Amino acid sequence: MAHEKMHTAKKKKALFINIAFVITLIGILLFLSKAPEITTQSLPHDDDHNRFFAMNKKVAEKLCVECHTPEDVHEIHKDSTPNTNRCLFCHRRD
Ligand code: HEC
Ligand code: HEC
Repeated sequence: MAHEKMHTAKKKKALFINIAFVITLIGILLFLSKAPEITTQSLPHDDDHNRFFAMNKKVAEKLCVECHTPEDVHEIHKDSTPNTNRCLFCHRRD
């Protein structure tokens, strides 16, 4: 008898874990579907930016400030991130 009880207790626990897992999955899906659309401008395809598409990201990012002055960049992004220098992380090359 005692053995059977333990057995159902184990089954209940497994069922509970499965339900928790499904609920977590649904939660993640809801979260992702509600995430805001990407509105950040991607890297423009023009004479100023074309050379950056083939370049190593970190190398390219160092060159952005030749034209986008640190003041501009900082002013626009000062609230958004401590990682402002990783331009291509947000301004995607697509
Ligand atoms: C040679 C000068 C120059 C360099 C270097 C440069 N940019 Fe620009 N960038 C411009 C100019 C000029 C504009 C504004 C005209 C335009 O929208 O194309 C601009 C606009 C942009 C925009 C806004 C596009 C939009 O749709 O409003 C983004 C984003 C951008 N640059 C990102 C970058 C990143 C990231 C780098 C470095 C990888 C970079 N730029 C390097 C000159 C430059
Ligand atoms: C954490 C994400 C993030 C990073 C990192 C980032 N940006 Fe932006 N950037 C944005 C967003 C979001 C906007 C749109 C701001 C808006 O429209 O109000 C933007 C706007 C811009 C614009 C357009 C400004 C305009 O007037 O239309 C330029 C140019 C730009 N960023 C250049 C850069 C450069 C150069 C770097 C790297 C030094 C950089 N960004 C790093 C998120 C980022």
